[in-house]
Amino acid sequence: MSTSEKSLLRFVTTGSVDDGKSTLIGRLLFETKSIYEDQYAAIEKTSKKKGLKDVELAYLLDGLAAEREQGITIDVAYRYFETAKRKFIIADSPGHVQYTKNMVTGASKADCAVILIDARNGVLTQSKRHGFLISLLQIPHLIVAVNKMDLVDYSRDVFERIVRDYQEFSQKLDIHNILCIPVSALKGDNVVTPSKKMAWYEGPTLLTTLESINVTADRNLVDFRFPVQYVMRPNSDFRGFSGTVASGTITPGEEVAVLPSGRTTRVKSIVTYDGDLQEAFAGQAVVLTLADEVDVSRGDMIVRTKNLPQMAARLEAILCWMDDQPLNLAKSYILKHTTRNVRAYVKKIIYRIDVDTLHRQAAEAFALNDIGRVDIQLSLPIFFDPYKINAGCGRFILIDPDTNRTVGAGMIRDAARHLEDYVSDPQHIKAPEQKSPHTVWRELNIGRAERERLNAHRAVVLWFTGLSGSGKSTIAMALERKLFDLGCRTALLDGDLLRHGLCSDLKFSAADRQENIRRAGETAKLFFEHGHIVLCAFISPFREDRDRVRSLFPDGCFAEVFVKCDIEECKRRDPNGLYRKAAGGLIPGFTGIDSPYEEPDAPELICDTQMFSLNRCVEEIETHLQEAGILRRIKTP
Ligand code: ADX
Repeated sequence: MSTSEKSLLRFVTTGSVDDGKSTLIGRLLFETKSIYEDQYAAIEKTSKKKGLKDVELAYLLDGLAAEREQGITIDVAYRYFETAKRKFIIADSPGHVQYTKNMVTGASKADCAVILIDARNGVLTQSKRHGFLISLLQIPHLIVAVNKMDLVDYSRDVFERIVRDYQEFSQKLDIHNILCIPVSALKGDNVVTPSKKMAWYEGPTLLTTLESINVTADRNLVDFRFPVQYVMRPNSDFRGFSGTVASGTITPGEEVAVLPSGRTTRVKSIVTYDGDLQEAFAGQAVVLTLADEVDVSRGDMIVRTKNLPQMAARLEAILCWMDDQPLNLAKSYILKHTTRNVRAYVKKIIYRIDVDTLHRQAAEAFALNDIGRVDIQLSLPIFFDPYKINAGCGRFILIDPDTNRTVGAGMIRDAARHLEDYVSDPQHIKAPEQKSPHTVWRELNIGRAERERLNAHRAVVLWFTGLSGSGKSTIAMALERKLFDLGCRTALLDGDLLRHGLCSDLKFSAADRQENIRRAGETAKLFFEHGHIVLCAFISPFREDRDRVRSLFPDGCFAEVFVKCDIEECKRRDPNGLYRKAAGGLIPGFTGIDSPYEEPDAPELICDTQMFSLNRCVEEIETHLQEAGILRRIKTP
């Protein structure tokens, strides 16, 4: 295979210096023969001089450390190496405090992340933070390298405990492919060469894993998006549009539309320095010529007519703040998205995420390294896809126009949906009615605290959300039975039941579902204030609706339980035959079929009903209630 045909893997390494990251990178470079002999000789000499038994491969990376000390800012250092199978680019983000910025910038194009964990320390907060960022950035592959195995006697138990701990945490994250490898970067075990000391480990080495990760499957080759960078007009005969294919593929002859004008035409040719192409792919820089003279300017987007991106001027996004100066809600920033720059300001911080616990917190501002969900208003609409579907067209950066610094990086979740949109739309007349100005609020006769004292447990709302057939009601019922038998005061609100009475006037449009969830939330609130443990089982497919319910309750008194089960399995279970009917077109707007389900970002709990038994799910929630101090005076068997 010639070099040019080799595939490229970009990966990012994270972990602190103490975890042995430099040694690991040094080891990879050394054993893949990516360093010069004199470089090796030099570090061998230094190591000997310092009386070290092993050659300190980390010294290979010292040049950079020195530059950093001299105040030369290196946020991310890139390193290249290759093997017979593949080429690699390592984006090495130093593990100091500015980790968010480094991760976001260094990892945004990574196919894979390697997190280092020191076997002696186990899973620390930092490893969790990195995992969280990796999941936010949707890096599809994660390798957990449990390093310094030589210092724990190559113990299988130690390794397996760390694997268990990390898996328990990573369940809450959105990373699908996690592989744990026990290594010693210093001694060379399982980095490039399989370890003789850990015969109990039968998996691949780190390098073999990196060589075999399939990256093409992760790239979006479906949605053709071509943000126009320049209009080229070298002479009156030629007019082309240059840019990089952000995602998807295109061939000459295909029908395309130019956004925002919406004019349609066909691709005439795909021009490059090396001649015309028969097909262009994501990542390629090309010049497109079009069959007709249509108006195209920088910042426009060329797409297929039958596969359009979304267009919106108000977005919901996850924003990572990376500047010393906090986010200012009154200030307008420049939002740079593909080739488009627009003015933007953050209208609202919906919540900030505490990266240690993954809990959401109310926040007035974002400081350096804060991450959370925001509502952003733009001066002009942009064409985008949610980051989850298409990273290239779903991310943006915010620039401070006064300092020209990049202050934030964002991942678009969706166009923001607003209550006002429904109210002004006559089809959605079911928006909550305003309360009459002549009602007077009165405190409860007997307050929650007094009731809680009598009950010997605290009041809480457990909100079960998930697809129809995922197991929400089943878990809620089993849990309620257990809590009731322990003497708890419980209430169970279930979508199917409420829709027979309180909500019998509602159907399944987005607005009706919103109203359904609003009523359910208000009802839960009444039970909650009366001291109950309230179990609510509703599909509640929209995040915004669930978040609105959450906002009714004090912090720590509302737990979102994501009942996770993929749609194929729900269809297979089909407890009430509804999926079959929906497939036959009898139930339009069925969640998961032709109506969306928005998964929670940071639920307090996940019950994966494909992976775990009913009992296990119930026990996990009970443990959560215990740990949160809700049942503290209840004696559990
Ligand atoms: S929600 O979307 O508004 O939260 P809810 O949980 O109250 O839904 O009700 C869901 C139940 O309604 C399902 O279990 C199913 O029995 C029934 N149902 C009827 N039509 C639909 C539909 N189009 N989508 C989802 N569920 C439906």
